[in-house]
Amino acid sequence: MQVNIHPYRIGTYFYFFLLIFIKLFHPEPLNKKRMSAFKRHLVTSALPYANGPIHIGHLAGVYIPSDIYTRYLRLKGEDVLSICGSDEHGVPITLKARQEGITPQDVVDKFHNLNKISFEKLGIAFDIYARTTSPVHHEMASEFFKTLYDKGDFIEKTSDQYYDEEAKQFLADRYITGTCPHCGNDQAYGDQCENCGTSLSPNELIKPKSTISGSKPVLKQTRHWYLPLDRYEPFLKKWILEEHKDWKTNVYGQCKSWLDTGLQPRAVSRDLNWGVPVPVEGAEGKVLYVWFDAPIGYISATKELTRDWEKYWKSQDTKMVHFIGKDNIVFHCIIFPSMLKAEGSYILPENVPANEFLNLEGDKISTSRNWAVWLHEYLEDFEGKEDVLRYVLCANAPETKDNDFTWKDFQNRNNNELVAILGNFVNRAVVLTNKFFNGIVPASKILNDYDRETLKEIPVIKSRVEQSIERFRFREALKEAMNLARLGNKYLADTEPWNHNKNNEERVKTILNISLQISANLSVLLKPFLPFSAKKLSGFLNFESSDWKNIGSDKLLIPGHRINKASHLFQKIDDKLIEKQVQKLIDTRQTLTDKIVAPAKDVINFEDFSQLDIRTGTILEAEKIPKTKKLIKLLIDTGIDQRTVVSGIAEYYKAEEIIGKQVSILVNLAPRKLKGIESQGMILMAEDTEGKLVFVSPEENIQNGSEIK
Ligand code: 2FM
Ligand code: ZN
Repeated sequence: MQVNIHPYRIGTYFYFFLLIFIKLFHPEPLNKKRMSAFKRHLVTSALPYANGPIHIGHLAGVYIPSDIYTRYLRLKGEDVLSICGSDEHGVPITLKARQEGITPQDVVDKFHNLNKISFEKLGIAFDIYARTTSPVHHEMASEFFKTLYDKGDFIEKTSDQYYDEEAKQFLADRYITGTCPHCGNDQAYGDQCENCGTSLSPNELIKPKSTISGSKPVLKQTRHWYLPLDRYEPFLKKWILEEHKDWKTNVYGQCKSWLDTGLQPRAVSRDLNWGVPVPVEGAEGKVLYVWFDAPIGYISATKELTRDWEKYWKSQDTKMVHFIGKDNIVFHCIIFPSMLKAEGSYILPENVPANEFLNLEGDKISTSRNWAVWLHEYLEDFEGKEDVLRYVLCANAPETKDNDFTWKDFQNRNNNELVAILGNFVNRAVVLTNKFFNGIVPASKILNDYDRETLKEIPVIKSRVEQSIERFRFREALKEAMNLARLGNKYLADTEPWNHNKNNEERVKTILNISLQISANLSVLLKPFLPFSAKKLSGFLNFESSDWKNIGSDKLLIPGHRINKASHLFQKIDDKLIEKQVQKLIDTRQTLTDKIVAPAKDVINFEDFSQLDIRTGTILEAEKIPKTKKLIKLLIDTGIDQRTVVSGIAEYYKAEEIIGKQVSILVNLAPRKLKGIESQGMILMAEDTEGKLVFVSPEENIQNGSEIK
C-alpha cells in the first residue's frame, strides 16, 4: 500500500514527534510536577513564638489555610504530615520574661500549653505540636550548625555591636529600637521595622535605644558566625526567579526585591543566654540566632514524630509547603533554603504560600496593645462555634492584601451564610425526609432536565474546589464549596417539594433524594473547612465518608437508608453577643487612649510643692522581693542617711542591673509597709503610655542628698 504523505502533513508529523521527544527527554521542572507526581507531603505551619496567645491574625494568615490544605490531602488519601510547634527561643521570649519578672522557661511553658490546647479545640489537626526547647531540637539544631561549620560554610567575624552598659548585654534584634532609615518609624526593632516590613540590622537604626534600660547603647567588639547569603545568590535566583514563577505574587515579589538588591552575609549567632548554645569552642555565652534554629524546628519536630522522618525530608518526591505570614517570607524563601542547600541532604519547599495581615476593626492587630481577638477567649465565649470562626477567617482571609475583621461581618456571615444558606438547606432536606418518608431515603425514578442539570453541577463544583485548594486560594475554594449549598437551596426553592400533593409522591421522592445526595456530598466537601459541622451533618444523615473520591456521586445515600433527625447545624448569633465583643474592644481602645497622656492635675501653689523633699540618691543594694511580680527592695544612700525603699519596678529593671544607679527620691514621704518591709521613701519614676517605668535621674552624677527643686 502506498502511503501518501502530503507536504503540509510533514510539518504536522515533525511537530508531533518533537512533542514526544520533549516529553521523554526533558521532564517537567520540579515545580511543575502535578500533585500525583509526589509520593508524600510535608506541610509546615510557622512556629508561633510562645510569648503570647494565638489571635485571629495568626489563624487567618497561617493556621486555617494550612489546616484546610492538610485535611484536603488526607481526604484524598495522600501521605501527609502536618508539622507545627512553639518557637521558644529569641528575644520576644526573654523580653516577655523580663516584663513579667519570670523566667523564659516559665513564659514558654505557659504559652506552649495554652496554644497547643487552643489549636486542638479549633480543630487545627497538626500531627505534632513540638517545642524548640526540646532535647531533640537542641541536638538537631546544634548538629546542623556543626555540619555547616565543619564544611567551612560560615564566615567568622569580629565587629562592633551595640551594647547596653547598664544591663551589661549586647543588644540584638528586639533588644534595640530606633528610627527606621527607610520609613522613619521611630519604633523599629533591631531586626525588622514592623511598619514597612524591611529587615534591619541594629547598626542601621537611627537614634538607637536599648529596650532593656532605655539607655543609649555603646559599640563594643564581639565575634560571630555569618552565613554568606551572597554565595547562594545564583542558586536562589535560578530556583525562585526562574523555577518558581508560580509562587504567589507577594512572595515572588519580595524575593525578587531581595535578590535584586543583593544579599549580604547574615549573622547566625547572638550574645544571649537563652537559645541553642553555639556548638564550637570559644563560643561561651553565645547562642544560635533564633531564625537559624526555628526553621530547623520543622525537621526536629518531624524527627520527634516519626522514625521515618528522613523519608519526608530527604526524598525528592516529597512535596513540602511552608505556610507563613508575610513577615516571614525572607526567612523561609531566602535564608532557610540557603541553609538547606548548604547542608545538602534536605529537600527545598515546593511552595511558600504567605498571607498578608488581618486587621481588627480597622486597626493593626497588636499583642502588646492587647488589640486582638484571642483564640482562647473566643473558644470560651463562643463554645460550639469553632467552625464559625474557621469559616469567617477563611472567607475573609488576607490572601492577596491586608483585610479587616469586624464583629459585624462575623455576625453577618454566620447569620446570612452559614445559617441561611448551608444550615437552612440541610435542615429542610433532613426534616422533609423525616416528615414525608419517616427518615427513609426515597428512590428517585424519573429525573427531569433540571434534576439532571443540578446533579451535573456537583462534580463541577468539586473540581473547582480542588483547583482552588491546590493553588492555595482557600477563600475561593470555600466560596465554591458553599456554592453546593447554594445549589441545594435553590433547587429546593425552585422545586418546592412541600407544595406537591399526594398524587405527586414520585416527584417529591426524586426531589428529596437529590437534596439528600447534595447534603451527603456537602458532608465530605466541607470537611477541610468546617470539620465540626461536617461531622454533625454526617450524624444527621447517618452517613460517614472520609474519601474525597466519593464527592460528585449522586448515589452516596442508597434508597432505603435511614437518616437521623436534624437539629440546627448553625445558630443565629444575636446582637447582644456581638455587642459584648465590640464593648470589649471599646474598653481596650479606651484604656489605650486614656494612657496616651494623663490629664493635667489641679493647680497647686509653690508652698505645696516645696513641702516635697526630693533628693538625689544612689542605689547601694537591690533585691527582688520573692513571690511578687513587681517589687524590688532597695537600699539607698540619700546623702542624709541610708534607707530602705520598696519600689514597683521589677517588670522593667533587674535588681542586679540597677546597683550604682543615681536616682531621685522623695525622702519625707510617711513610711509604709509593703510585703512586711517598711518603705522609707519613694523613687521617682516616669511612666510612659504603655505603663513602662523609667528612672528620673540627674543628667550627670551629683553629690547624693542634692535637693531637687
Ligand atoms: O514570626 C514568628 O512568629 C516566628 N516565630 C515564626 C517562626 S517560623 C519557623 F521558622 F519556625
Ligand atoms: Zn520602616
